[in-house]
Amino acid sequence: MPEGDKTTGCEGAPRHVAIIMDGNGRWAQSRGRPRLFGHHAGAKRVREIVETCPDLGVKYLTVFAFSTENWKRTQTEVAGLMSLFRRYITKEARALRDEGVRVRFIGDRVRLDAKLIALMDELELLTQENTRVHLTIALNYGSRDEVARAIKRMAQDVARGDLSAEDVDESTLTRYLDTRVLPDPDLVVRTSGEARISNFLLWQSAYAEYEFIDTLWPDFTADIFEGLVRDYARRDRRFGAVKA
Ligand code: IPE
Ligand code: IPE
Ligand code: MG
Repeated sequence: MPEGDKTTGCEGAPRHVAIIMDGNGRWAQSRGRPRLFGHHAGAKRVREIVETCPDLGVKYLTVFAFSTENWKRTQTEVAGLMSLFRRYITKEARALRDEGVRVRFIGDRVRLDAKLIALMDELELLTQENTRVHLTIALNYGSRDEVARAIKRMAQDVARGDLSAEDVDESTLTRYLDTRVLPDPDLVVRTSGEARISNFLLWQSAYAEYEFIDTLWPDFTADIFEGLVRDYARRDRRFGAVKA
């Protein structure tokens, strides 16, 4: 696992924060604007939050940008989101690189268009030496889909004789997931007032702490983020054990 630069940070900060960035549509609709207006406003929030991470001591930030279920939306919204992702990567690439951000994508790429996949590959390559903060963008990501894809590859390896079924345990599955190089999330935040997980990092968040907040994603600020990180630092995680 990459270690990298030292961060100052808040004592007891979560090493990995994962965010379900929800509420863009409602944010736009409350202003009488189309849903895509909210998605654009939401995308702008990401960089400020990533840049806050090193000061707080958060080394990994994972954001849910598009789920395997989001294809059910109108063709206009899906196409608008795909175009936003292409534009976002093109526009932000240099700043992310210069800020020391290592970007990775998780999710199934097969349904994405070739131009977008090429931009994702380029950004991963461009930032691969960075270690200050690790930003993972979940795009066409669904936890069940990820587990199913992992098991498929695992079964293929067993069939080829590269893996013994006898040796399969929790750590084996972890190594086949898209998140294989990431530590488990310590804190999962969902904005917009919904208290559900919507198929995000189910396996990885088995022992995460959760925060469901009412703020809509385009209104999310560095101050709100810092407050959540400080609240986390006060929590008592027991992982099933009893404290001595
Ligand atoms: C989250 O905002 C972004 C995506 C799912 C792509 P929504 O688009 O879900 O916004 P609401 O929940 O409808 O307000
Ligand atoms: C979850 O939000 C997915 C993302 C934030 C990308 P949704 O808005 O798609 O989730 P549901 O439909 O409210 O469960
Ligand atoms: Mg939503």
